[in-house]
Amino acid sequence: MKIRSPIVSVLGHVDHGKTTLLDYIRGSTVADREAGGITQHIGATEIPIDTINEICGEFISKLAIKDTIPGLFFVDTPGHAAFTSLRKRGGALADLAILIVDINEGFKPQTYEAINILKMYKTPFIVVANKIDRLFGWETHEGASFMESYNKQAPRIKSDLDLKIYELMGKLHEEGFQSERFDHVTDFASQISIVPICAKSGEGVIELIALLLGLAQQYLTQQLEISEDAPAKGTVLEVKEEVGLGITVDSIIYDGVIRDGDEIALMDANNVVTTKIRSILRPLPLEEMRDSKNKFKKVDEVVAAAGIKIAAPNLDDVVSGSPLRVLSDQEDVEAELLKELEDITVDTDDEGILVKADTLGSLEAVVHLLKEMDLPIRSAEIGDISKRDVINASIAMDENEEYGVIIAFNVKVHPKAEDDLKNSGVKLFAGDVIYQITEDYEAWIEERKE
Ligand code: GTP
Ligand code: NA
Ligand code: MG
Repeated sequence: MKIRSPIVSVLGHVDHGKTTLLDYIRGSTVADREAGGITQHIGATEIPIDTINEICGEFISKLAIKDTIPGLFFVDTPGHAAFTSLRKRGGALADLAILIVDINEGFKPQTYEAINILKMYKTPFIVVANKIDRLFGWETHEGASFMESYNKQAPRIKSDLDLKIYELMGKLHEEGFQSERFDHVTDFASQISIVPICAKSGEGVIELIALLLGLAQQYLTQQLEISEDAPAKGTVLEVKEEVGLGITVDSIIYDGVIRDGDEIALMDANNVVTTKIRSILRPLPLEEMRDSKNKFKKVDEVVAAAGIKIAAPNLDDVVSGSPLRVLSDQEDVEAELLKELEDITVDTDDEGILVKADTLGSLEAVVHLLKEMDLPIRSAEIGDISKRDVINASIAMDENEEYGVIIAFNVKVHPKAEDDLKNSGVKLFAGDVIYQITEDYEAWIEERKE
């Protein structure tokens, strides 16, 4: 048995600092070459344990954390949609998450959305209160720990920060979570840590990384066990066209081994797609990438956890969030994948609303949230809204007016269906924030009751 690095996903509202935080972590490790190279993956960055020890060894030894994991595997998710693509059957692919909140703005729609998704997948997370440098009068101390910098601030600034943290604790409480500033946490299993940081100066990043390590080693070790010679399991982050390669899939492999020439199975909106790998590609290390035209390096095989690009025929219709499995004689992978799609898209109720979403993962998340609201769902499918969808919603509406509804996440209305939709009286709730869509829908239901 091998232990892989935990996959850490960064979530939060637009512009609250997800990418800046990862840039800081990457930059500080790339700059400090002595500390050992970090590995670039597709959609992910892996920081080896040696580097982590270099950055925050002192703090780690204070926390009495043993380094039993090989590193941390950070995934930047540009918006919540990508997080939901990071899925595996029955849960999230991310083992841990960072929920980043701008301390001056507080909770925003996508913060709630992220919390809902984390709740749904039961992903342990740390809340980062970012942009502390924007607190009026804050004195920046580049690269310092939070405690060091905090202790150097004027009393008024300290109480200003304390107040903002209390506000976050209140919001988290409303969402059903007990939380404390990390240094006041007494039980990491039942309380969420809030870490104030500045992603630009790096203040607090040391504590954040140490806490992630602590959580991973205390609660996740079993879940991180992988086998190095089993057929690989992975998930598709994105389907992309690349010059000279055709359609490729960017994927995260979370278990087993995948080799050039392997037969793999993936999903399109309705069916299993099988194909043979033409090449496996990995991004070059950051330093090499700067002075190279080719961003990728061809590799023969890869062991989990890894982010790779796969070039192969027949990938055109594969959907984001699709499972990826190396085919083997032992298991009936195709049947398993179909069952998985069925679990998500099956006609769950005889009557109810229609749900459409752009990826397998977002569909799963929307269906889950709607079921938690006790809503009957007549059908749930990937893809844009078609004429047929409008007809089906009209039929549902004839049975019960409240079911004449299409919930649509990140999809468009097909031009040919636009007129039908207008004339049908079917209500469309569409958008790219699930939380917002369900709120609008609930408001509409309330309105109807009055
Ligand atoms: P999306 O990917 O668009 O959702 O945004 P993001 O969460 O990745 O935010 P991003 O890292 O792009 O940061 C948004 C803006 O906030 C940028 O202009 C950053 O420079 C700025 N910013 C991020 N962190 C900090 C911080 O700690 N302090 C200050 N002053 N600015 C910050
Ligand atoms: Na941004
Ligand atoms: Mg970003």
